[in-house]
Amino acid sequence: MIDKRSFETLEWCDEGLRLLDQRQLPEKKVYVLLKTIAEITTAISDMIVRGAPAIGVTAAYGIVLGFREHGAKLDLTPLYNARPTAVNLHWAIERMEPLLRQAESEDALLKEAIRIHEEDLMANHRMGDLGAELLDEGVNVLTHCNAGALATSGYGTALGVIRTGFAQGKINRVYADETRPWMQGARLTAWELLQDNISVTLLVEGAAAWLMKQGKIDWVITGADRIAANGDVANKIGTYSLALAAKVHGIKFMVVAPTTTIDLNCQNGDQIEIESRSEDEILNFNGLRIAAEGSKAWNPVFDVTSADLVSVIVTEKGVIKFPDTPEILISSKPSQERI
Ligand code: MRU
Repeated sequence: MIDKRSFETLEWCDEGLRLLDQRQLPEKKVYVLLKTIAEITTAISDMIVRGAPAIGVTAAYGIVLGFREHGAKLDLTPLYNARPTAVNLHWAIERMEPLLRQAESEDALLKEAIRIHEEDLMANHRMGDLGAELLDEGVNVLTHCNAGALATSGYGTALGVIRTGFAQGKINRVYADETRPWMQGARLTAWELLQDNISVTLLVEGAAAWLMKQGKIDWVITGADRIAANGDVANKIGTYSLALAAKVHGIKFMVVAPTTTIDLNCQNGDQIEIESRSEDEILNFNGLRIAAEGSKAWNPVFDVTSADLVSVIVTEKGVIKFPDTPEILISSKPSQERI
C-alpha cells in the first residue's frame, strides 16, 4: 500500500514529543524534541507543526508534558490561543481537560493522547476510501495547501483521498497550488507526494482558474480547518477563490475533514475566527525583503467557502453531499446519487 510512512509528522517518546520541523522542508528533514508545554505552544504558533488535525494531536501530547511540569492545575489558555482557526486544537484540549483536572499521574492523559493520535490516523484512511469512491477513472485533481500526512497523524485528508485514488489507478494527474505565502503546496505537498512516487505539477494560485478553463481539472480536493454547522468551510486562504472558479467551470469541489474539524457551535462561517499573521510573511520571502520599501500587507491566512460552493464533504463517518442545508447531516454510507 502507498504510505510506507517514510516519515512521521509527530512521534511520542519518553522524554517528550518529536516533531518534524516543517519550516525546514523540503531542504532538510530535521526533528525537534519538545519537553515543555511552552515549547509545544510555540511550535504550533510558529508552524513547526501545522495542519488542523496535527495541531490537535500535538496539543494533546502537550498537555501530558504540561502535567509533568505544572500538575493538574496547568493553565491551558496559551495553548488554546496558539492558533485560532483550526478547531481541532480546541477540540483536543476540551477532550483532554477533564482528565487533566482529575489526574494524579500522567498515565490516563498519555493513553488519551495516544488514542486521539490513533483515531486520527484511522479516520484518514477511512476518508481516503470514501473520497476515492467518488472519483471516476482517469480524473485530474487540484489540491491546495498541504492536507496530507504532514498536516495529520499520517496519510492525510485531501491527500489521503489522492493517495487512495492514485493507488486505485483512478487519478491521472495531480496539480497543487504553491500556496502563498508559506508555500505549503510547493514545499510540503510536492515533497510528500513525491515520497510516494506520486507525480505532482505545481502552479501559482493565480493560474488555477485558467487551468480549469482549459478543461484540465475534474475535481478540486482540499482539507478544512473548521466546518460550521451549515457546511461553510474555513480553509487555507485561496480556497474560496478556487471554489468560485470551480463553480463557474462546472468542476466538483470536495472537502475532506474528520468530524473533529466540524464545529457545531459555529452556526455559519461568519462565526469562525480567521487568523491574521504578520505582514512580514508577505513582504519578505525566505528572510529577504521582496516588496517595495514602505508597502504594507494584508495577511489573513484562512478564508471561508460557503456551503453552496461545496459538492461534497467527506468525513470518516460518511459523506455529506451538497452540504448547503440548514444543518449538515452525516450519512453513514455514501449514497449512490451522483454529485
Ligand atoms: O496554516 P496551515 O498550514 O496550518 O493551514 C493548513 C490548512 O489550511 C489545511 O488545509 C487544513 O488544516 C487541513 S489539514 C488536513
